[in-house]
Amino acid sequence: MIKAAITGWGGYVPNNQVNNHFLTTIVDTSDDWIKTRTGIKTRYISTGENTSQLALKAAAQALKQSNLEAADLDLIIVATVTPDSFTPATACLVQAELGASKAFAFDVTAGCSGFIYGLNIAASFIENGKVKNALVIGAEVLTKVTDWTDRNTCVLFGDGAGAVVLQPSYYKGILASYCGSAGDKEGLLTIPAVPVRNPFVSEQPAASVISMQGQKVFKFAVKAMRKSIDKVLEDGNCKFADIKYVIPHQANTRIIDFVARKMRVDKQKFYRNIESLGNTSAATIPLAFNEMLSQGLLNKGDKIIMVGFGGGLTWGAVLVEL
Ligand SMILES: CC(C)(COP(=O)(O)OP(=O)(O)OC[C@H]1O[C@@H](n2cnc3c(N)ncnc32)[C@H](O)[C@@H]1OP(=O)(O)O)[C@@H](O)C(=O)NCCC(=O)NCCS
Repeated sequence: MIKAAITGWGGYVPNNQVNNHFLTTIVDTSDDWIKTRTGIKTRYISTGENTSQLALKAAAQALKQSNLEAADLDLIIVATVTPDSFTPATACLVQAELGASKAFAFDVTAGCSGFIYGLNIAASFIENGKVKNALVIGAEVLTKVTDWTDRNTCVLFGDGAGAVVLQPSYYKGILASYCGSAGDKEGLLTIPAVPVRNPFVSEQPAASVISMQGQKVFKFAVKAMRKSIDKVLEDGNCKFADIKYVIPHQANTRIIDFVARKMRVDKQKFYRNIESLGNTSAATIPLAFNEMLSQGLLNKGDKIIMVGFGGGLTWGAVLVEL
């Protein structure tokens, strides 16, 4: 059976690194609170680059790594909750800049699980033979929808983009995948878009910024990650011992600790880079993957699990043989 194999990868963050001390100058917080409650020490914040520009930089690296030209691409998916515009899709902007004229391109909105959803969609196109070369990007400028007066959320987020190229293979690739949603819990994590504003509506619209019920999201996250990991292990006929690394969504290092503890597995198998990048939503997983490859942590034949959760609520995982 044809599988979707990862053959290229890239990552990019803006060059403006912001430490916790800076945040203490704008909200009532401390370096110690942020570090101990979340694991975050720094994050990168855009000084003007929008989501498509970050996505493009990550995409160019992934293409180069896979030895493909932009013209070879059949499909471009950008997972984001912070697109440049409602239309055109950020994926279309990336397509135009790359010159990937053969590709069809669209965005996926599934909160911080967007990259996992994007991988699932692209893999399905590859497995059914309709697409050969797919580019999947997770890209966000979350700081443009951050409420900079809310200490509960503004300390958590950063900007960035990560990308992978997927191609058909008989030998390796995505062995199992899983996505889930719970729309009835939508209120736990929201970023409102444009409200109804017309001559028939008099209400003042709510600001388009992130709001979150942190503790409830925390509890949901632990359950959703555990369930997603178990599901892809079962569907992929693997044991946790077969897995070299889990690459979890980077929202809070304590969430990752809890998942490992509940599963009674070695927490060192869960890769983390939240300390330096913060939560970049749909970009955390491909950014971590790119970083791990550049550090030589992953080799051909390794099995890994990428697992995420986010607003929607949404969750999901993929089990990949590299
Ligand atoms: C947001 C989060 C870090 C908060 O940590 P927590 O341990 O749950 O903290 P709480 O919300 O219980 O708040 C504890 C106290 O710290 C305070 N606090 C919140 N943010 C603070 C900050 N940045 N600095 C200092 N104090 C802060 C609260 O006001 C509260 O004070 P109180 O006890 O006087 O009311 C944590 O709940 C979390 O990570 N949730 C999941 C978030 C997530 O995954 N989001 C992305 C989903 S994709």
